[in-house]
Amino acid sequence: MSIQKDLVMAIGRIVKGVDKLSATNPCQLPLAESGIPSDCAESSLLAIDTSFPEDEVERLATQESYNKHLYRPNTYLHKWWARRSGTTFRFILKQLVDDAVRRDFYRAGGLEGVIILDPMMGGGTTIHEAIRMGANCIGVDVDPIPVVQARASLEYLPMSEKEEVFASFETALHRSIGSLFKVCCPRCGSVSDFQFVLHALRRRCACREVETIDSYILREDGQGSVSICPECRTVFRDSCHECRAGNTPVLLPLLDRSQTSCPRCNMPYEDRLDLPFWQRYTPVAVSGSCREHGSFWKTIEDDDFQRMHGAAVKYDNYSELRRPDFPVFEGPKSGDLLSRGIDCYLDLFTKRQLLFLDEAIRLVHSAPRAHQLWLGLLVSTSLEFNCLLCGYKGAGSRRPGAIRHVFSHHAYSFPYTALENNPLFPLKTSGTLKLLFRDRIQKAGKWAALPVERRIIDGQTKQVTISGEVDSGDLASSFTSIREGVRKVYVTQRDFRSMDLPGGSADHVVTDPPYYDNVQYTNLSAFFRVWLRQLLPDEADWDYDVQSSVVAVDGSQTERYEDALCDIWRKCHSALRKPHGRLIFTFHHWKADAWAALTLSLKHAHFFLTNRYVVSSENPISVHIRRLRALKHDCVLVLRPTETDPNGVGVWAKPQSIKTDDSRRFCSDCASALGYFLESPLPESEIRHEWRNLIGGTNNGKASR
Ligand SMILES: C[S@@+](CC[C@H](N)C(=O)[O-])C[C@H]1O[C@@H](n2cnc3c(N)ncnc32)[C@H](O)[C@@H]1O
Repeated sequence: MSIQKDLVMAIGRIVKGVDKLSATNPCQLPLAESGIPSDCAESSLLAIDTSFPEDEVERLATQESYNKHLYRPNTYLHKWWARRSGTTFRFILKQLVDDAVRRDFYRAGGLEGVIILDPMMGGGTTIHEAIRMGANCIGVDVDPIPVVQARASLEYLPMSEKEEVFASFETALHRSIGSLFKVCCPRCGSVSDFQFVLHALRRRCACREVETIDSYILREDGQGSVSICPECRTVFRDSCHECRAGNTPVLLPLLDRSQTSCPRCNMPYEDRLDLPFWQRYTPVAVSGSCREHGSFWKTIEDDDFQRMHGAAVKYDNYSELRRPDFPVFEGPKSGDLLSRGIDCYLDLFTKRQLLFLDEAIRLVHSAPRAHQLWLGLLVSTSLEFNCLLCGYKGAGSRRPGAIRHVFSHHAYSFPYTALENNPLFPLKTSGTLKLLFRDRIQKAGKWAALPVERRIIDGQTKQVTISGEVDSGDLASSFTSIREGVRKVYVTQRDFRSMDLPGGSADHVVTDPPYYDNVQYTNLSAFFRVWLRQLLPDEADWDYDVQSSVVAVDGSQTERYEDALCDIWRKCHSALRKPHGRLIFTFHHWKADAWAALTLSLKHAHFFLTNRYVVSSENPISVHIRRLRALKHDCVLVLRPTETDPNGVGVWAKPQSIKTDDSRRFCSDCASALGYFLESPLPESEIRHEWRNLIGGTNNGKASR
């Protein structure tokens, strides 16, 4: 063990002992009361500088990672990418609490009046957790979605009013377009609600056109199976089928996805890029629910086509949506749309889906002003389940009717069997307005009024209510008005680099920056922004400069990322109260270039590593990382804005090498190396070189977010 490491541990031991002795932050107690060595009492030591309950965080954050939205429903009003676990951020913020007793995870509050800044707030994890503890918060994001989401989810409005607004919104939708979202029960013929329509992908080879679906089996459960006949397209249960192919007009061959080339011309089947995206699909089966006979599957028949046609005519005649307002611009992810000939976001929807959206926009505009924000966000987030990019994954008995929603991967994917969902379906199933309202507004509101945490006792998970906390705050119109009081929040949309916060405006910065090139937020969020601009035209700057987003693209633009991040850290540095203010954030990446960029951005902004911890980041079976050699951990980096470290806690030895076969160890070693480089006098070029020596090539493994 190196001398430096010995020193770190020895001082860590002293410091941990100090922490146990004092009931409050020793640095803020008069020396006589604190009973601790004078050099430490005079210092600016915080609990997070020396300790973090990694094992406890590990247990709880891992559980949360499987179902983040259930753990903190009020943070999940609208889709956002790469959300960190609220549990981890609650633990981080708790370690900033002065009073050691109130640092307890299950105790309410502890940060009353403390100002927490998140310069890149994304899904708003920091802000929500800090508000609960009574902090005053400044939340900034360059993208409008995080900002309007934070406003809508933190602002308190009576639930009875929301329920009333939603009920009239739903009733009006049913009245105006409900008749087009119906299907006849195959047993009694009564007009019922359809749950979803499955569509097959039209393709062609050199000699003919075909249609392709994932599988001829549409559903399998304890009672048997539902299939579609590839010849006559009849949907039938079990083996009760007599093919009517001879009697039906000639249909295109229906193939399953395993048939990739034509046995007649030997050419591969290719997508019909000559058609608008929505015309590349043909409806093949419908499921619905009859009041009398329960759920059913049915062959597509004339009346179903008529309803689809009726919706298209109505949409074409009345819609005010204009193609030039929905352009797909070039970008790292939207390039996948353009390369498939999709240059307008409207083309990703059937005309019936567009009719619903057009009508919903009108109704949001006529809702009471105070309720338009959450209602508009609810409609926007429903797009993820009401779009032809949705796939069908409900064939198995475990998840009947489940939808593979648009961003189940952090990218666009293009289904064989596309699922046209019914947003007005009244029963409990994914992606309906009713379910979204229940989960993201009603359950979220209940949780916000009395937040619930989990405690694991003898392997059993128990719910613990945190009485005394609420997840809502007073929205402030400027950062100056949050200096007094508790639970005040100022959220603003801007490039943080352009923000002028005077020195001492924030006690701590707690954030989660873009992890180099891992998630292309700005480019992906355009899918929602084009709609939100219609739904909530005056709520944000929907046309902001997407170039101002701090993100590298597929391993390139390292310099741009590094410079922009450095400017952000500089602004944080000047805003922090010194010397006790801390910059704390989570990070991980496999690539040497990502770590080098992070190191240099922090170094030029004069931050030094005081401590680092490692916690679980993602659910290991998440679809984003399942088949990738992904990092499953995050470093929690605790940085101080002053070089001098009176406590001597942050003295780092350089690891001899960093092994890449263990995610946790890798993160921990990278963080130590970061600490070392921040203190070392090495020039920039050497630091980049050293990182490559330590981790290996620049393209080491695959990113996980
Ligand atoms: C990793 S996300 C934050 C995730 C969030 N902490 C959570 O748990 O949901 C990073 C955010 O940084 C934002 N961002 C990127 N560049 C920015 C800039 N120049 N100014 C402010 N925010 C920026 C992105 O829009 C994105 O929302």
